[in-house]
Amino acid sequence: MDIIAKLGSPFSHADFTIGVATSSFQIEGDGENREKSIWDTFCDTPGKIADNSNGIVACEHVKRWESDLDIIDSLNVDAYRFSISWPRVIRQDGSVNNDGLSFYIALLDRLNEKGIKPYVTLYHWDLPQYLEDEGGWLNRQTAFAFEQYVEVVVKAFGDRVFSYATLNEPFCSAYLGYEVGIHAPGLVGKEFGKKAIHHLLLAHGLGMRVLREHAPTIESGIVLNFTPFYPASNDEKDVVATKLAHDHHNDWYIKPLIHGDYPELIDHIPDHQKPDIHQGDMEIISASIDFLGVNYYTRARVQDNGGEDPYQMPPAEGTETTAMGWEVYPQGLTDLLLQLHRDYELPPIIITENGLASDDEMTSDGHVHDIQRQGYLNTHMNAVAAAMAEGVNITGYFVWSLMDNFEWALGYEKRFGILYVDYDTQKRTLKDSAKYLQTMLAKRKALNNQG
Ligand code: FCB
Repeated sequence: MDIIAKLGSPFSHADFTIGVATSSFQIEGDGENREKSIWDTFCDTPGKIADNSNGIVACEHVKRWESDLDIIDSLNVDAYRFSISWPRVIRQDGSVNNDGLSFYIALLDRLNEKGIKPYVTLYHWDLPQYLEDEGGWLNRQTAFAFEQYVEVVVKAFGDRVFSYATLNEPFCSAYLGYEVGIHAPGLVGKEFGKKAIHHLLLAHGLGMRVLREHAPTIESGIVLNFTPFYPASNDEKDVVATKLAHDHHNDWYIKPLIHGDYPELIDHIPDHQKPDIHQGDMEIISASIDFLGVNYYTRARVQDNGGEDPYQMPPAEGTETTAMGWEVYPQGLTDLLLQLHRDYELPPIIITENGLASDDEMTSDGHVHDIQRQGYLNTHMNAVAAAMAEGVNITGYFVWSLMDNFEWALGYEKRFGILYVDYDTQKRTLKDSAKYLQTMLAKRKALNNQG
């Protein structure tokens, strides 16, 4: 049974926000009219991106933004989540790029005209390269540079924004970018990850301060990604390894924000891997937020391997997986939300990303039958509703992604969109999942107008 059409389902209520999401580097293109980001450099480094592609053209969204917003409007969604490109706004010499700002202001104005709520993410991984040249997120000063950038943006945007998120998935910036090196800037070393995340969280806290001062009525928070971990067996060793994985990959990011300290694990890691915490940092980091954004894609099963990095097993034979090779496991989303609710006193949660990549192909008559995506979205929305029924306060759900785009180290090979993008012509086509959402949301509108 369809979640949105279901009377009484939280997804059918007008006050539950349903939207689609993108990020700057993944869709914008127009690489010539901004400073370089760490992702440009990473793309230029041989062997880093699966299809040797880059973000210079991407989905040409800067050129096509007006028709893209028309499509978003046609989907009947309440909200659009997108990110601001820092290197499009602040130049290397520190001056403000007004053309860059004007692009976003026009976009925000149009969204407001159409009655679509703008959910703005201030940092979705595209750090200006000129800051990386000074040490990037390993340099404490980057947090203060972020604070200044946020002030420029927030003052310029005024009341056009509905919701601000400081950072998207700092886990990926810190761990994937500075510890295992599969994301930009590609540093590898256990001594880097936890230092980088501390500066990212500090940037968040400093950014929140600016938001509170200059946008006190706009809801502001942060977006984290979580992987719920499950022991591979009942063996005590696997259970302990699972807890270790959870502490490293989930709790390390949420605990400082909510409780103002890192997990107890911090006492057990070697000194050279510890973050440089200055007095007062944890208070800045744990200042109150109005919402917690949760991104969920899959779960992982953990097996003890005796090491510091417990082994995350591939999906079991026979389980449904996506084109990323990730297990389809909606129960993981319910479990995760219940666990967060149990462990922390949280502000309202918004599911800021959920979706899947599939090997979508256009049929000769111009359709894209992405059946797996429809099923995934439906079961995961139901998983959210199940957590809500257990008392978790969740106020919105965003599909990742509006359109196929640059999937980081995997380039354009993985398609996450509900719109199919033909990269030769830049033509966008509604996949079946988009039509499904469009129809369901039209019914929902009708339902709420009657009520
Ligand atoms: C998330 C990212 C987003 C996209 C999806 C598939 O980790 O926030 O940009 O790449 O994964």
